[in-house]
Amino acid sequence: MHIRSRRSWEIPESAATPESAFFDRRTLLGGALGLAATTLAGASARAALPGEGTGATRTADLYPAKRNGAYTLDRPVTEERYSADYNNFYEYGTNKTVTPGSNALKVQPWTVAIDGLVENPFEIGFEDLVRKMPLEERLYRHRCVEAWSMAVPWTGFPLAALVALVKPSADAKYVRLQTFFDKGMAPGQRQFFYPWPYTEGLTLAEATNDLAFLVTGVYGKPLLNQFGAPLRLAVPWKYGFKSVKSINRITFTAERPKTFWEALQPSEYGFWANVNPAVPHPRWSQATERVLGTDQRVPTLLYNGYAEQVAGLYKGLEKERLFV
Ligand code: MTE
Repeated sequence: MHIRSRRSWEIPESAATPESAFFDRRTLLGGALGLAATTLAGASARAALPGEGTGATRTADLYPAKRNGAYTLDRPVTEERYSADYNNFYEYGTNKTVTPGSNALKVQPWTVAIDGLVENPFEIGFEDLVRKMPLEERLYRHRCVEAWSMAVPWTGFPLAALVALVKPSADAKYVRLQTFFDKGMAPGQRQFFYPWPYTEGLTLAEATNDLAFLVTGVYGKPLLNQFGAPLRLAVPWKYGFKSVKSINRITFTAERPKTFWEALQPSEYGFWANVNPAVPHPRWSQATERVLGTDQRVPTLLYNGYAEQVAGLYKGLEKERLFV
């Protein structure tokens, strides 16, 4: 992401969420769903498979998942050697080479809390969660606000499947998704002027759209750390910064969440951030994109090519700043 000057958006360290308040380890409901808070004991009973090193999730046996043919591409899949070597993950640095630093991300054990305005809040070990959800592979485009793009085979499950489990109450209008907060594990989080933890948000209608996908793997195997292991979001009709990585908390709220980039620079990064080639970023055009791994620039598509599936979500919201 391009930030012109730190001064304009510096926030005091005291404004960042304190770690203790961030993760409330209460045991949550879910027994009726068979989703009572669980340990990783079950998952650790079997021998590790290749690719399941110490500290990696022990889920490689779930891959590759069956591809859902409904999600097709207009371009070749980006080779992994390019997409896995050009990443945005500010917890591990502000350049694109985050792979070495992201080795410090320990994804086992990993707990995900789902809470807020819901009937059935619960907290669950990642490995138990992924084994309960309907995994499938989808080919998605990904368009970064910096005007580069890739096309990847994500594996995961619809966010709507999780929403159905927790049953939001009538007051819940938004879903807030947050990355872990651990300065020891992520040196970038020691930089006080960022509003850690990385936070993103969707309306409930967006979160339950078919395209909103919680990602656990890519290229037919569990997520590599630099992609945001063990659990990230993919909302391909929005700029890539909405696709929050390494999620450990999902909260249903009545208020629109303040997102990481919006808190930093609201004039440049808004809540909605839908892709639109006709609406430039304040400092550069969004008309075209550089395709990772090629020397091509191609025209950017409205809603990144997913208008048919999502344009209806924004009827009646035309007065909002939908595209920045
Ligand atoms: N999530 C976290 N926690 N931290 C980040 O810095 N960067 C975002 C998004 N999710 C980011 C994040 C941005 S700007 C983009 S473009 C995508 O992750 C990049 O995903 P990729 O590295 O898998 O291509």
